[in-house]
Amino acid sequence: MIDLRDKNALVTGASSGIGAAIARRLSKEKCNLFLTGLGEEQLRETKETCEKEGVKVYYKECNFGEFASIDELVKEIKSIGFSIDLYVLNAGISQRDRGFDTDFSIDQRIMQVNYWSSVYLVKQFKDEILTKDNVSMSVTTSLAGLFGFPLRTSYCASKHALFGFFESLDLEYPNVHVTFLIPGRINTPISKSALMGNGDKYAKMDPGQAKGLDVDKAASRAVKAIKRQKHRKLIGKSELLMAYINRYMPWLYYIIANKISPT
Ligand SMILES: NC(=O)c1ccc[n+]([C@@H]2O[C@H](COP(=O)([O-])OP(=O)(O)OC[C@H]3O[C@@H](n4cnc5c(N)ncnc54)[C@H](OP(=O)(O)O)[C@@H]3O)[C@@H](O)[C@H]2O)c1
Repeated sequence: MIDLRDKNALVTGASSGIGAAIARRLSKEKCNLFLTGLGEEQLRETKETCEKEGVKVYYKECNFGEFASIDELVKEIKSIGFSIDLYVLNAGISQRDRGFDTDFSIDQRIMQVNYWSSVYLVKQFKDEILTKDNVSMSVTTSLAGLFGFPLRTSYCASKHALFGFFESLDLEYPNVHVTFLIPGRINTPISKSALMGNGDKYAKMDPGQAKGLDVDKAASRAVKAIKRQKHRKLIGKSELLMAYINRYMPWLYYIIANKISPT
């Protein structure tokens, strides 16, 4: 079990949903925070809530769709001497269109925000990571990172890719520990910002999403898993059964995945 008191955590996607809830939960553990995301106002709100726990909280808006924006973020983190003990790599964008209805530029954008940005970000801190005794990384993937799912071709691909890169990193460096958070359906506005094939926002709250696990409960389970240095943590409700069905009864997975509502 690791003690997060007085540790420093960088939380990406902290302006909404799971990231904001993890930040609030980490502040209760007395962990100092650097929050980043797209929405400046929401970041400031999360910062103010977390500061009530008496921890230091910094924030900076950053667009993970652009490496130059990530460079600015890294410059700021380094300039204030915020030495990161825990990377919460959580920012992500979803998809709501079939593969051949999705423009290739949108496939690339989803991979950029969900996968390349996290790889690029941690590489900017490689010298610091290599000299620290212990570094934790929490990587928010998805049930859709374990198998395919309709209307999510590139989303699924980006989440599978996170597993490949960060699991290998964990094996390569004894001082780096990676916890994969694997949410099923969590009640957040993720479907509203999901991209359709032409790049427009889907802009609807999926009924399945709205019935998902409460976001604070999800964050509490996530932080418990990070503290216990679990390798993988499934977070959600009965939909998590799909992970076991896919693994042990793949024939049944194909039947269910073809019938289940993807929204
Ligand atoms: N909710 C679920 O059921 C579910 C299930 C499986 C996996 N997940 C994963 O959980 C993570 C968090 O999702 P969520 O449900 O909390 O959704 P959310 O409420 O929409 O939060 C997504 C976060 O990512 C940020 N983000 C999106 N595009 C970005 C960009 N270009 N640059 C920087 N930040 C960007 C968002 O910033 P703004 O809000 O400021 O735009 C927001 O802070 C994602 O990786 C998602 O794939 C969620």
